[in-house]
Amino acid sequence: MTFTARQSVDPSKTKTQCAVVPVFGKSLSAAAQAYDELSAGAISATMALGDFSGKSRQSCMLPGAGGAKRILLLGCGEQKKFDLAAARKLTETLYNSLNKSSAKDALIYTAELKPQDGELATVLESMARNLTALAYRYTETVAKPKKALALSKLLVSSDKEQLSTKEAQAALDSGAKTGQGINTARNLANLPGNICTPSYLAKQARELARGNKKLSATILDEKKMAELGMGSLLSVSAGSDEPAKLIVLEYKGGKASQQPYVLVGKGITFDTGGISLKPGAKMDEMKFDMGGAASVLGTMQALRDLELPLNVVAIIAAAENMPSGRATKPGDVVTSMSGKTIEILNTDAEGRLVLCDALTYAERYKPSAVVDIATLTGACVVALGSHASGLYANKDELAEQLLAAGQYTHDRAWRMPLWDDYQKQLSSNFADIANIGGPGGGSITAACFLARFTEKYDWAHLDIAGSAWDSSPKGATGRPVALLTRYLQERAEQQ
Ligand code: BES
Ligand code: MN
Ligand code: ZN
Repeated sequence: MTFTARQSVDPSKTKTQCAVVPVFGKSLSAAAQAYDELSAGAISATMALGDFSGKSRQSCMLPGAGGAKRILLLGCGEQKKFDLAAARKLTETLYNSLNKSSAKDALIYTAELKPQDGELATVLESMARNLTALAYRYTETVAKPKKALALSKLLVSSDKEQLSTKEAQAALDSGAKTGQGINTARNLANLPGNICTPSYLAKQARELARGNKKLSATILDEKKMAELGMGSLLSVSAGSDEPAKLIVLEYKGGKASQQPYVLVGKGITFDTGGISLKPGAKMDEMKFDMGGAASVLGTMQALRDLELPLNVVAIIAAAENMPSGRATKPGDVVTSMSGKTIEILNTDAEGRLVLCDALTYAERYKPSAVVDIATLTGACVVALGSHASGLYANKDELAEQLLAAGQYTHDRAWRMPLWDDYQKQLSSNFADIANIGGPGGGSITAACFLARFTEKYDWAHLDIAGSAWDSSPKGATGRPVALLTRYLQERAEQQ
């Protein structure tokens, strides 16, 4: 879908298949009044009948008038209560109406949509992002995918006293490109484990970089990882016939002297649990265990398309966790790239095992900050459910920046403690550290494990076990691409 900013649009002349007119209660906006006159009072007549009163979530499709083939009235609720949350509802209602319509293009009047708690530009941005994501369909492995949205073009009319065309277009582009990044992440995560293997992820990373001068991909194979001493990562892929890959994408949008931001993604393309085998129920959902990797790739796509003036490195630790005669066993001790030995008490706590080596690898970039993203623990789902990603950080400023980015995009995170008190749950009699921390605080002890490998830089960890996918209907959400993209946009602005 394309989004185009327009200004001072004349309802009597501008041709569109569907004029979308937001309505706040009884008083009609300038655009609504214009269409009301052009339609010989159809809008006020509809409202007088009581069929549409401008309440939030209400919509009403009317025959066209002026240059419009149709008029879609969208309820916005009370003007003085209109905020970013109401704007999200409005976008959903807009999408639902358009999804029932065969209109291929539409024109929305946004002059009155400035929210109480933000800027009009933020509404345009979130509208473009959310519409792009709502229009997503999974098409890869089904003969008859769900019908695509007919709409392919949205003109967005705003008022030049509020926003210049350039500002409006920038907000729409930011939203649309973030939305496309979200959809890329969902597509990858939705693919089954027999298609989306570590090698497949590597191929997709190469594809992202192809033909782009600022973006380059490097894939480290198991031999190279063994040379680097990544004994922890390799212990996870040991039981699988699919070779592990360490996927590195370098995006050079900033000055050569600028230290990069590093994103590290957990890319377990299927997590059986290994020898500590998972129960059968819902095990299929462990194809989503590369959701962190998918969100990193989706974010890299967005920042490539937005041409952000920033240096960003993506590191994806991709492996499949399988039981076999060569698989790692509970009690095995492995040596990580950092030199620390790890007693693997449960082979199902594999995410942290692949991440710790990727996090050590990140040191070579002398990063400004490192953020890892992982579907790391069932305990995080217990703690936070699906609305918030769990956030951990060894630096308050970084935590606050990420929380703010999540708030802005409604892709929210909630900070969890990383106190030293939890560290002793990870002691082992036979190695420097154990890979599980016992029954209490499972998401926290997983983060504490990672903290042992990230002392050399500012670091944050997002546990997205609850937020990366929905179970009914089943499907990847593309979170936290919106949070990460916003975070990086803000860093680029501060350079
Ligand atoms: N990928 C899982 C975490 C997970 C489980 C995400 C369920 C979403 C839903 C991870 O590898 C895992 O298995 N973690 C274990 C850790 C435990 C063995 C300490 C878990 O959460 O049970
Ligand atoms: Mn696991
Ligand atoms: Zn896992």
